[in-house]
Amino acid sequence: MPQSSNFINEYSLPNVVENKSSRSSKMTIREYKRIGEGAFGTVVEAVLKYDDPNKQQQQQDNENENNTNGYSSTSSSSSSEWLGPFAIKRVPAQTEYKSRELEILRFVNHPNIVSLRFFFDKTSSTDKKVYQNLVMECLPSNLQSEIKYYRQSKYTIPYPHMKAYTFQLARAMLYLHGYGISHRDIKPSNILVDPNTVRLKICDFGSAKKLEPNQPSVSYICSRYYRAPELIVGCSLYTTKIDIWGLGCVIAEMFLGKPIFQGQSPESQLKEIAKLLGPPPNSFFFKSNPHYRGNMYTTKLFTGSIEDRFKQIFSNSPPDAIDLLMKILVYDPDTRASPRRVLIHPFFDELKHKDFKVFPRGSNVQIELNLFNFSDYELELLGSLKDEFLKK
Ligand SMILES: Nc1ncnc2c1ncn2[C@@H]1O[C@H](COP(=O)(O)OP(=O)(O)OP(=O)(O)O)[C@@H](O)[C@H]1O
Ligand SMILES: [Mg+2]
Repeated sequence: MPQSSNFINEYSLPNVVENKSSRSSKMTIREYKRIGEGAFGTVVEAVLKYDDPNKQQQQQDNENENNTNGYSSTSSSSSSEWLGPFAIKRVPAQTEYKSRELEILRFVNHPNIVSLRFFFDKTSSTDKKVYQNLVMECLPSNLQSEIKYYRQSKYTIPYPHMKAYTFQLARAMLYLHGYGISHRDIKPSNILVDPNTVRLKICDFGSAKKLEPNQPSVSYICSRYYRAPELIVGCSLYTTKIDIWGLGCVIAEMFLGKPIFQGQSPESQLKEIAKLLGPPPNSFFFKSNPHYRGNMYTTKLFTGSIEDRFKQIFSNSPPDAIDLLMKILVYDPDTRASPRRVLIHPFFDELKHKDFKVFPRGSNVQIELNLFNFSDYELELLGSLKDEFLKK
């Protein structure tokens, strides 16, 4: 719990909505520090307190009953009235750009997706505009910072951690894609992690959307380095497989310590991909966008097979990781691996051993990770593949 003396802002509001119950209460919000600055908003660390002490008691009772995701964000000190620390994301309430972030965060409930605890609107005293505030559980780091931390000392994230992170990411995608929800901005800075528990949660649903079959969506989404090839060529009937491409880029980045495809312009992004996968086939352009008139990079930019190319670029990576990447980084979204295929890949076999444990960063005490607590809904999505996980 941060010390009371060093907060940056404190205010009281009458209409703070608790996400699960939808109950609105008067609460005091005490903000400590900025922890994120994005294209759309700012994120601050904060604690919250019910102004009415009875509400506080109710909340604590609910917490004790509902704390199922193994990551409590309520202060451990029971005598304290302050709840948190939380991360509050503040974005302009009305813009031309339609954000479905609140709607989607209210709908989802998964151990690998950041959970929303409260939300409220507030008018800024400086620009008089209304801002939407999303109060979420707070994690200490994100994958971009973790990759950077290890790169600075010329290491990569330890393999067991990479496996655990990748597995949790794929599990979140199985869940989201099961509902047809595409995150549409998968990248390391949107993936929160706790290096002390090796837990991972996807955040930033500012670009997320439930994709309906045969209904077009804008193709200018996703940060450049992580954009699937079909988006680069302007496909508007894309699927949730665009997130799987992002997953492949994130896995590759954990191994390489830097983004794998660093295009200098939106179009040269496709060239960077072609340097690994060879020229995109004509059928790819035809399926993605028959009206595409940009550079098709038809000349092969390397010698040898695509598999040789993967082995060359990932020369320090284990063969099972290379095999997984070759199943994900595929031009055709229909043949690109699905989340369930990713989850049963042998790359994760080590995690399935009964005695699998990891050393969290900076600790010499091993911890067990409970990564297989699948809900009935997830088991249903895994279908016949679920036996793979029940075998353990
Ligand atoms: N719940 C959280 N706990 C801890 N840190 C968070 C949390 N949510 C966001 N952050 C931090 O704040 C940063 C910005 O948040 P977020 O990605 O949601 O905002 P954004 O404005 O949409 O960002 P961008 O457009 O740059 O992707 C994240 O990269 C992360 O470092
Ligand atoms: Mg972000």
